Amino acid sequence: MKNVLVTGGAGFIGSNFIRTLQIKEPLVHVYNLDALTYSGSLENLRGLPDESRHSFIHGDICDGALVDRVLQDHEIDTIVHFAAESHVDRSILGPGQFVQTNIVGTYTLLESARKYWAANGGLDSARFRFHHISTDEVFGTLKPGEPAWTEEIPYAPSSPYSASKASADHLVRSYGHTYHFPYTLTNCSNNYGPNQFPEKLIPLIILNALENKPLPVYGDGNQIRDWLHVQDHCDAIYLVLKQAKDRSSYNIGGGNQPTNLSIVHKICDLVDEMSPCGTPRRGLIQYVKDRPGHDRRYAMDSSKISRELGWVPTHTLELGLRETTEWYLGHPEWVSAIRQQVEYQSWVVKNYEERK
Ligand code: NAD
Ligand code: DAU
Repeated sequence: MKNVLVTGGAGFIGSNFIRTLQIKEPLVHVYNLDALTYSGSLENLRGLPDESRHSFIHGDICDGALVDRVLQDHEIDTIVHFAAESHVDRSILGPGQFVQTNIVGTYTLLESARKYWAANGGLDSARFRFHHISTDEVFGTLKPGEPAWTEEIPYAPSSPYSASKASADHLVRSYGHTYHFPYTLTNCSNNYGPNQFPEKLIPLIILNALENKPLPVYGDGNQIRDWLHVQDHCDAIYLVLKQAKDRSSYNIGGGNQPTNLSIVHKICDLVDEMSPCGTPRRGLIQYVKDRPGHDRRYAMDSSKISRELGWVPTHTLELGLRETTEWYLGHPEWVSAIRQQVEYQSWVVKNYEERK
């Protein structure tokens, strides 16, 4: 790796990944292509380990001519593709942008990358790589007691978001199969940690609890997610880039199975401890109208990446939630810069008003 194109690097996971990559690879230059949609922010890129090895390019992955230029001008050898519309609730209220970014955008990026790779003699995966970031949601939903998902499980997406991610995954695999285009792919579970946009469950609950606002729990709150600390995720992606075989895929999960309600309880107790207000925050919980088509349970079997690449998550959920809560309480400027956006405020009204 020398010149790495990261798409979506101003978002939550992409920005954490750029930090990780700069620390682990002191010679790599990162070219960060990001459209700065509502969830992308240059605030996430403040204080990078080495700003001189990071170039920000404001642009859209759907712009093929721009992607062609970036690949050629900077002699890119590795692409790590995070850019996406990532919020399930937004996909339910407006699926069109998910089709555009996640399917058309991934296709546009792939097609530019394929032409560039072919023009450079069709380098092998040691010298050129397209790494695609996907999600566990492509596998659908699990019943209680069903085993965690392995890489062999057939896709069964259930929301417009997961269907768009599944389509993108199929396109990536089809390029590998048809053109021998060098790719790797990872499906990960719910990430949490610093810099997550505060419309996702964990940061939303931390910030609402801090401000003594209602804590919205969809349906009965007994849905189950598999929570992965973003740093563990970034370490896993790095290992895949360094060690995984061409055209392989890996599942990455945190190895825990809490209900949403238990996550909310834990956060309430942490905020009570770190910022006492006299009354327990658990009293702020409000059960609201459920997400349509809400997946009940996710669980990832990460044994392949552990066995083959030696990856194991290092953050327990207890410690990870504590550190994450501390991070949000310790970064009021980041929080207010993000939440001042008109778009964020109108989303809160749109998503929660009609749930009451
Ligand atoms: P995010 O919403 O925080 O960030 C997405 C980034 O992509 C933003 O910076 C945004 O500006 C950029 N972007 C959006 N459309 C673009 C376009 N057309 N061109 C260029 N840039 C564009 O998302 P995230 O949580 O960091 O997720 C990153 C990736 O990981 C996504 O592909 C998502 O599907 C996947 N993923 C996320 C999670 C999770 O829990 N957050 C879990 C599994 C997989
Ligand atoms: O599983 C991986 C996926 O995790 C990623 O692919 C997505 O990009 C990411 O957004 C995330 O999707 P979820 O829908 O699971 O995350 P979210 O934080 O939106 O919701 C987590 C759970 O909490 C889910 O069961 C819905 C519930 N929830 C969410 C919000 C925002 C609530 O009960 N109340 C809320 O206000």
